[in-house]
Amino acid sequence: MSIKDCRIIELPKIHDRRGNLTFIEGGVQIPFDIQRVYYLYDVPGGAERGAHAHRSLHQFIVAMSGSFDVVLSDGSESKRFHLNRSYFGLYVCPMMWRFLDNFSSGSVCMVLASRHYDESDYIRDHDQFLSERGLS
Ligand code: TYD
Repeated sequence: MSIKDCRIIELPKIHDRRGNLTFIEGGVQIPFDIQRVYYLYDVPGGAERGAHAHRSLHQFIVAMSGSFDVVLSDGSESKRFHLNRSYFGLYVCPMMWRFLDNFSSGSVCMVLASRHYDESDYIRDHDQFLSERGLS
């Protein structure tokens, strides 16, 4: 899959005087079924997360509060996405190198994932990533 498959998806937003409501259904708003949810919070200023790729995992990243950037690379092209609204998210397809930075204070990053945690799905070495993409 190419970086062009990774995109910002706008989620439904139900306006109400009592507050807004947004929902995400696996296979409907996002192109995979959800098997796992995790979130990053209490991220100290200047911290960077990620710096790895996944061989088969699909993910959808939402800034539930505050803001941060997600940088994606397919080995040839890279793109920086700024996330700062809880009704937008970034779909990240398999085999994308990613890191997250620029976290605002109090930000919460929620990640929906297509599979349970599996360390063997990670590529944590960038040269290995380029090799598995056929770029070295
Ligand atoms: P990791 O995905 O490496 O986080 P980041 O790339 O943002 O630094 O995960 C950090 C640690 O948390 C690692 O030891 C694995 C563990 N972990 C789980 O046990 N389950 C999970 O669902 C996730 C995402 C991480």
